Amino acid sequence: MKTLQRTLTIVKPDAVRKHAIGDIIEQFEKNGFQILCMKMLEISKHQAEQFYAVHASKPFFSSLTDFMSSGPIVALALEKEDAIADLRKLMGATNPANAEEGTIRKKWATSIENNAIHGSDADDTARFELSFFFAGYELAQ
Ligand code: CMP
Repeated sequence: MKTLQRTLTIVKPDAVRKHAIGDIIEQFEKNGFQILCMKMLEISKHQAEQFYAVHASKPFFSSLTDFMSSGPIVALALEKEDAIADLRKLMGATNPANAEEGTIRKKWATSIENNAIHGSDADDTARFELSFFFAGYELAQ
């Protein structure tokens, strides 16, 4: 029996600037994701560094955290069976040059950094990332 799973997604600053929020949220709903909670906010460079701490040693860390703090983002808590894997399929490859037709990154991403959307990549990261943006009471269903 399959069980419901939760994941965290972010509509990134580049996609917000392109007015793609509505289109991306429509993709979540059309593909069976339940939106449990969502919020539009801006994060500071320091907050972006905390969120992406796992990438702290990567050469792109400073640029990534500058970008993620460059304007409004939309964070959403999503739920469905196999939500983590299914969202990653719907997003497409991190580098839009490798993203399949029909994916969100194929449509909206312009580079590996300006790649429109983030999605948790595993159970433990989903737990950390959901709790980064949402308090327990906001996800109590
Ligand atoms: P995301 O799914 O948010 O997770 C980490 C992010 O780092 C990733 O999307 C990309 O936006 C970014 N990233 C990964 N690899 C590179 C890279 N080689 N150069 C620049 N940014 C990268």
